[in-house]
Amino acid sequence: MPPSESQVERTGPVSLVTGSARGLGLAVAQHLAARGDRVHVVWRSDGDAASSLREAFGARAHRADLTRVDETQALVDAVLERDGGIDHVVHAVGEYVSGPLADATPDELRRMLRSNVESSFALFGAARPALRASRGAAVFFGCSGLAGFRARRETAAYAAAKSALFVLVRSWAQEEAPHGVRVNLVSPGHVPHPDAHPDTLDRARLEKIPMGRPGAPADIARAVDFLTSSAAAYTTGTDLLVTGGWML
Ligand SMILES: NC(=O)c1ccc[n+]([C@@H]2O[C@H](COP(=O)([O-])OP(=O)(O)OC[C@H]3O[C@@H](n4cnc5c(N)ncnc54)[C@H](OP(=O)(O)O)[C@@H]3O)[C@@H](O)[C@H]2O)c1
Repeated sequence: MPPSESQVERTGPVSLVTGSARGLGLAVAQHLAARGDRVHVVWRSDGDAASSLREAFGARAHRADLTRVDETQALVDAVLERDGGIDHVVHAVGEYVSGPLADATPDELRRMLRSNVESSFALFGAARPALRASRGAAVFFGCSGLAGFRARRETAAYAAAKSALFVLVRSWAQEEAPHGVRVNLVSPGHVPHPDAHPDTLDRARLEKIPMGRPGAPADIARAVDFLTSSAAAYTTGTDLLVTGGWML
């Protein structure tokens, strides 16, 4: 876990990265910290991952359940209190479920919408004034194949939630552009990591990836690096596919 509490002395951009106790959010947090950002991380569940995160990020590690509007607002307030502003928000939260729609329950659909859509709506709402003040950037997480509104045999409830998020992202991009705020989606393909869903290791799916390999968390971190850099100063409302060509 490279970054340390020495981040306290940093003066780089302030980046809030959610879902950062593990998986893609953790890779993004580590990457942005290595480039010099003052990275705030967020954990939800107690355990070893949360302990390591607190050790590595010190006062910039926060606990919040981001399906709760009050905890989301308190998180943003804590970041502002610590560092006085927010330049980037990267929301790597979004639960997953697979299986035919005929077997899905209303609770599963609600969980997808709460985790992927409502949490994004609450976080962007809480961070909007700070992002406008800094003329900053927000990055949300989609999934492959959103552009075509494709039917899904196994992931319809999840993809429906991500599709709703994509419409929000494009709408925020349009609405916030006059305020200097950029809003984009990054869409990973299959990115296995130690805590990822077993579907990311499904051989039948992996064999369909034109580039011949699954994604790595570092691939996603580099894409977020780009979207939160001056190289993307004129990029907003896009869905950046990091899929190795899967589902083209
Ligand atoms: N990995 C892939 O192949 C892939 C592919 C396409 C899209 N994506 C998207 O990329 C994003 C990150 O994926 P991932 O594989 O890193 O996911 P992950 O392994 O499920 O990790 C997500 C992190 O988010 C946290 N989290 C979940 N719900 C939360 C909540 N309500 N409040 C606060 N934290 C919460 C989890 O905390 P806990 O430890 O407490 O659960 C966990 O640390 C997601 O939006 C996902 O849909 C991933």
